[in-house]
Amino acid sequence: ASAAEPYDVVIVGGGPGGYPAAIKAGQMGMKVACIEKRGRLGGTCLNVGCIPSKALLHSSHLYEEAAHGWGPHGISADNVKIDLAKLMSHKDKTVTGLTGGIEGLFKKYKVDYFKGTGEIVGAGSVKCHPMDGGAAQTLTAKNIVIATGSEPAKLNGVPVDEKTIVTSTGCLELTSIPKTLVVVGGGVIGLEMGSVWRRLGADVTVVEFLDGIGGPMDKEMAKTMERIFKKQGMKFKLKTKVNSAEVLPGGGARLHLDSVAGDKPETLDADIVLVSTGRVPNTVGLGLDKIGVKVNKRGQVEIDDHFATNVPGIYAIGDVVRGPMLAHKAEEEGIAIIEQIAGKGGHVNYDTIPGVIYTHPEVATVGKTEEELIKAGIEYKKGTFPFMANSRARANADTDGLVKMLACAKTDRVLGIHIIASNAGEMIAEGVLAMEYGASAEDIGRTCHAHPTMSEAFKEAAMATYDKPIHF
Ligand code: FAD
Ligand code: NAI
Repeated sequence: ASAAEPYDVVIVGGGPGGYPAAIKAGQMGMKVACIEKRGRLGGTCLNVGCIPSKALLHSSHLYEEAAHGWGPHGISADNVKIDLAKLMSHKDKTVTGLTGGIEGLFKKYKVDYFKGTGEIVGAGSVKCHPMDGGAAQTLTAKNIVIATGSEPAKLNGVPVDEKTIVTSTGCLELTSIPKTLVVVGGGVIGLEMGSVWRRLGADVTVVEFLDGIGGPMDKEMAKTMERIFKKQGMKFKLKTKVNSAEVLPGGGARLHLDSVAGDKPETLDADIVLVSTGRVPNTVGLGLDKIGVKVNKRGQVEIDDHFATNVPGIYAIGDVVRGPMLAHKAEEEGIAIIEQIAGKGGHVNYDTIPGVIYTHPEVATVGKTEEELIKAGIEYKKGTFPFMANSRARANADTDGLVKMLACAKTDRVLGIHIIASNAGEMIAEGVLAMEYGASAEDIGRTCHAHPTMSEAFKEAAMATYDKPIHF
């Protein structure tokens, strides 16, 4: 890459916010550079997040199915074995294949890729400190996009060594199956990674501060998932806090727990402890304080509705700004900011960003939860349909879950959709599209869905908001 001319846009960070922005800029004919310090493109998502975790989730699901799950179909297999090294190597190859693919796309769309740490030294000027230690290079740019993402939050008194006490990153790299795993934080990462290692044989206990799992998830869905996870053998210690933890000389770690009320101190030992208590925006070394870019109390770069920081020509997107920390949210913002820079009015609809937890079954959500509607004083109608009553789920012997639809009592407009199903993550796309187009529940209830599919439950939940479903 060469820094000879001024760039139309320099993007700092090559994750799912930064790299699609860079590609989009290239496609639109802008002169664009992307600076990434990891040495590989794709950010958290591709390297240590979405993709490796989904590889492990799928591999571990296949193992569990083969070992215990085919009974209802009259199929059994003896001697089902796990080759953990091979399982991990599939995950690693998936990651390298995909990150290499993005480098290819950068070449195709003429994005200059700088491997190094970006430091913004002023409006229109970014210094790149190369990974290989060479002299720093200064890039001049009409526009700068901060897309530096996030990192695991630290937990006081719980020292992460990424071997015994790990974050999600270490938990994706374990070299043997732990006998016992304690997960601190029953949010998305805890439930997904806990599921992986439980399926592979670990005894998993989730310690959660709140009185329910899944964070801001619809409470009915969270309670249903808790029941399903318990049936699968996962244990939960809710309303419990971790005061401290230490690695034991003989191996493993000891956690010092207490109830939130502070009246039930206890210790809990585990081979591996996963700390998954949230993620924090990453702005270290970016030089924001020197140039006066505002960062709020939560560490997020402050932006207006058009991704602009308080310093002209500097924008920010993805995990480093407000909103859900999701790859597809970062990507939408990445494309929107480039369209805006090009004068084309890019836009993100934050009311229709789906969220999925990729356990088995999956949990997928778009729009408002019941609790949010109640809090906002919005009158709503609710329709639910259980997969026990769906013919395809019955044929598949895969009936855990339900579809729940919430529609405005006055206008019938769909306000929220919550699905627990083995393929909920795919099924929610229909709901996102419906909401994006302002569908009413009756529109969905009167839309023909192929039979026999799990998606018929979606239609029947819609019917249940204004009438009766046929099959329940
Ligand atoms: P990041 O992906 O964090 O990328 C930022 C990049 O910037 C990094 O590569 C970093 O090295 C680089 N960088 C930082 N500072 C500098 C600097 N000064 N100079 C140069 N480069 C810099 N989301 C989903 O939607 N679906 C999922 O299934 C999912 N699963 C996840 C599983 C796990 C275990 C984790 C941890 C996260 C998961 N996420 C998932 C969240 C998702 O990974 C993030 O929301 C997404 O990666 C955010 O994209 P981003 O581009 O904003 O930041
Ligand atoms: P999270 O915010 O989803 O969950 C953290 C959980 O830890 C919460 O339930 C919280 O109450 C609990 N907690 C906080 N402090 C605690 C303490 N001291 N003791 C016990 N419990 C405590 O955060 P998580 O799981 O770390 O994930 C981070 C981000 O990554 C999320 O915002 C999520 O959006 C993203 N992600 C998305 C995935 C997906 O889309 N499938 C998968 C994995 C991560």
